[in-house]
Amino acid sequence: MRIPESKIEEIRSSASIVDIISEFVQLRKRGKNFIGLCPFHSEKTPSFTVSEEKQIFNCFGCHTGGNVFKFLMEYEKISFIEAVQELAEKLGITLQYDEETGTEKQTEQEFLYEINTTVGKYYSDNLLYSDKGETARKYFEKRKIKVQTMRSFGLGYAFPGRDDLVNFLTEKKIDITRALKLGLISSYEDGRLYDKFSDRIIFPIFSPNGRVVAFAGRVLEAEQKAAKYLNSPESSIYIKGRVLYGLSHAKDEIRKQNKAIIVEGYMDLISLHQNGIKNVVAVSGTALTEEQVILLSRYTKNVVLLFDADAAGIKASMRSIEILLKKDMEIKIASVPAGEDPDSFINKFGKEKFEDTIRRAQNFLEYQSAQYESQGMFDDPAKMTEAIRELVKPLALINDELKRTLLLKNISKKFNLRERLLEEELTKSLKEQNRNSIRESERKAQAQKLKENINVLSENKTSLMNESNIINERELIELLYIGGAEIIDNIFKNIRIEDFEIEIHRNLAIIVFEAYSSGKELYAGSLLDKVNNDNEQNYLIEIITDKHSISSRWEEVSDSTKDNKLSTKYVTDVIRKKRIDILNKMIDENFKKLKSVQDETEKLKLMRNEMELKNERSSLLRG
Ligand code: UTP
Ligand code: MN
Repeated sequence: MRIPESKIEEIRSSASIVDIISEFVQLRKRGKNFIGLCPFHSEKTPSFTVSEEKQIFNCFGCHTGGNVFKFLMEYEKISFIEAVQELAEKLGITLQYDEETGTEKQTEQEFLYEINTTVGKYYSDNLLYSDKGETARKYFEKRKIKVQTMRSFGLGYAFPGRDDLVNFLTEKKIDITRALKLGLISSYEDGRLYDKFSDRIIFPIFSPNGRVVAFAGRVLEAEQKAAKYLNSPESSIYIKGRVLYGLSHAKDEIRKQNKAIIVEGYMDLISLHQNGIKNVVAVSGTALTEEQVILLSRYTKNVVLLFDADAAGIKASMRSIEILLKKDMEIKIASVPAGEDPDSFINKFGKEKFEDTIRRAQNFLEYQSAQYESQGMFDDPAKMTEAIRELVKPLALINDELKRTLLLKNISKKFNLRERLLEEELTKSLKEQNRNSIRESERKAQAQKLKENINVLSENKTSLMNESNIINERELIELLYIGGAEIIDNIFKNIRIEDFEIEIHRNLAIIVFEAYSSGKELYAGSLLDKVNNDNEQNYLIEIITDKHSISSRWEEVSDSTKDNKLSTKYVTDVIRKKRIDILNKMIDENFKKLKSVQDETEKLKLMRNEMELKNERSSLLRG
């Protein structure tokens, strides 16, 4: 698939960058340019500038900049081709593709999307048209889901057999390796393939711009022993913590109403949607993550949390509040009566009653204090202090001082507490947080200590390595042990065992390499078991438990949860850094040889070699 250069130019020149970016960022005119708060890093004073005249954007804070395609790519995390397609669609320009160059290489991700789309259609056909789909159709009927809704959410059905999808994939000549990567199928010990989802209702999970990135499957009968919901594993197109279920269906309405309702389940979202409540997203099975909040904050700053009234739901609400506060969101909490969830509620009581519930949503402080009150914490003076402390803690997360003060007054009035007392607590909490941000300098000190430690562990080469290279090797070791098969494969395709310069790292790499090359299991658990040497084991555990959390680049990539550590960008960056280092060494060595040889053909060969190495290096540096 290739779009002719001229077409790309036509699209670029038809778009107004200010109009396009305005859809996502609030822009104000200032002089010749427009400014706004940068969507790529968090800031309070605008340093994000858009020039209509030059048709570019640039952020003076985080130095992200480029043309309108670049903006869409960064903002929506999509490829260049997708950005062109999306813009063309917005502008009503029809795309034609170069026929003869149809050989143009698709990116790996595009292959994966394509497979998911085909498989999603297959599941959907099963549900809508097949005889065997009757049970699933009955199920949805019982749950009051209309056919139109099934279509709009691409709902499907995986047959009870264990190889229906396998057969379908084979018939359609779909790449099995990729289907394995996507977790659609799996293999038994003896290599035979089987379907991951069987006898399950299928919910495709969409990216914000509507591409299928993963699937969730629900059992038909609740009493079945298997897990109620099964999800696709993460892949290069699906990072769980970065997806909000239903966002692609809800985003326009969220923008329009400037408000989003967050629910827990797939069915909650779908039922609400069917009943005309469309500004809803679902966290679906994970705790709300910071990345999900950032994603949502592109569309609105106002959220209503509507979690189940059970203990798990309350706990999830409390935790979500903190994450939302950190990102300066305005939070309200709504609830349905005990025993109901949003899906059952709207089906029983209808849209109006549901809207009442949302309208009656509580301020998050009221909600939290009501929770503490119901736990009897305000009756006991000793517990009361603790409750107040807990109530004040989230306030410290709010960046806006005025807002903080107002909320403080609010609590003081409600519980008849002296404001001074609360202020003291707040100051303590704020100090606590400042302390956390001092970690930066501590981290540097730790890095130094680590370096000394390593020198003790292996005295030979480390002196020649700089700190950043040492850290890079540690990151690679960590990835080898926690990254799983795909990442391990990627590392060993680019880096040889002998490229690990620190002895202990090399030893640890060898252990993984042996498992890798003999086709053994590559799970963290089983790999860790293989490290027998005490010294190595302690060291490895230190790396994995991240005692030294040292990578400076790491902060730029994202925050420090394990999930993010496996993000494609992080992994690629770590491998690339090592690869560049290896190339530098090879170039040096080549250069030394070149100086010493006399023979002309040998010289020529070395020169060609040098060029090739340099080419690879510069393409890696361009990244
Ligand atoms: P619930 O158990 O409340 O289910 O889980 P539900 O959404 O009400 O589903 P129905 O109405 O019984 O069909 C809430 C959400 O938690 C995730 C799913 O996203 C689900 O929608 N979940 C639940 C899982 O991921 N795995 C599970 O085993 C259970
Ligand atoms: Mn439910």
